[in-house]
Amino acid sequence: MSNNPLRAAITGIGGYVPDYVLTNEELSTIVDTNDEWIVTRTGIKERRILKGEGAGVTIMAEQAVKQLLEKTDTDPKSIDAVIFATVTPDMVFPASAVILANKVGITNAFGYDVQSACSSFLYSLYTGAMFIESGRCKKVLVVGGDKMTAITNYADRTTCVLFGDGAGAVLLEPSLEFGIQDAILRSDGMGVKYLFQKSGGSMYPPSIETVTNREHFVFQEGKSVFKFAVTKMADVSYEMMQKHNLESEDIAYLLPHQANKRIIDATAERMGLDESKVLMNIQRYGNTTSATIPLLMHDFEHKFKAGDNLMLAAFGGGFTWGSIWLKWAYDGEKVSRSAYKNE
Ligand code: UT7
Repeated sequence: MSNNPLRAAITGIGGYVPDYVLTNEELSTIVDTNDEWIVTRTGIKERRILKGEGAGVTIMAEQAVKQLLEKTDTDPKSIDAVIFATVTPDMVFPASAVILANKVGITNAFGYDVQSACSSFLYSLYTGAMFIESGRCKKVLVVGGDKMTAITNYADRTTCVLFGDGAGAVLLEPSLEFGIQDAILRSDGMGVKYLFQKSGGSMYPPSIETVTNREHFVFQEGKSVFKFAVTKMADVSYEMMQKHNLESEDIAYLLPHQANKRIIDATAERMGLDESKVLMNIQRYGNTTSATIPLLMHDFEHKFKAGDNLMLAAFGGGFTWGSIWLKWAYDGEKVSRSAYKNE
């Protein structure tokens, strides 16, 4: 934790999921699976799918950001930076942050994308906080969005039941009282062989062969990833508690990456948290990669109070993982929710 008293506080949140609901029942007509297997192994009941020719991730992010700007009464021209966490950008380049900024009238900012698989949002939040803590920026927009269905192989039952589409966004502003207190972020490239999208990059550019071999889709060796995720996400969250002498009573809520309910339960158990403190929406959205944590913030904003200690945790491809401890900056129940509810 730095001695600099300036912290980056989250002062607003927006979220968006597409309308189309892909249920476990519908999936069982596409691949050999069933509701019982999916629910017991993952906790997922349904996920949202973005449909439409040429509809990319920034379409969802645009909705989330417009909602955030309206809720916080923020002039888009006052935003200094846009950081977009995603593994499914609209295009390889230019950055989706730049495309998004143009869509929502952010004209005085720089923007770039961050890609660190399912930990992308945590990495982005930490990076955004640096611009605030240094005093160089006053308003930083951190967006987490993924259109996972663009890289999901609907012939592979081991992965296609897991993923969904969505986007969320937070506004970071300076605070002397609230905000991001500490982050422990880690990566280890030994994990590359267990979770990756082989083609589309410079190693295997797209070709008829890569498409025929379905290498433009997510590949995951689920069991191995599960083994690492369960220990790393729990370990890093516990390490954060130890480092700052935080007891389970001190923590208001855990906001874990939504990949698998069993991984979330293991993390909560290691932290000694009652299940009422563990936020989950995996049953409704599945794994939306970079959007899981901002969508949790969006859905549960009404529960948060100023000063609440929130613990964020993620694990993903790379491997990448981490924990962020933050103090929430405002009473969520005071924010008008009627127009914004995802439920
Ligand atoms: O967010 C990024 C990080 N990713 C993660 O954290 C994901 C980590 N991994 C997981 O969450 C789990 O490994 C999965 C949910 C992906 C899979 O659960 P599992 O308990 O590890 O299952 P498994 O892969 O060991 O498969 C068990 C059985 C297999 O059948 P056999 O070999 O025992 O006969 C699979 O073929 O379940 C079968 N199976 C399915 N059956 C019905 C695999 N997928 C399905 C399916 N429906 N969709």
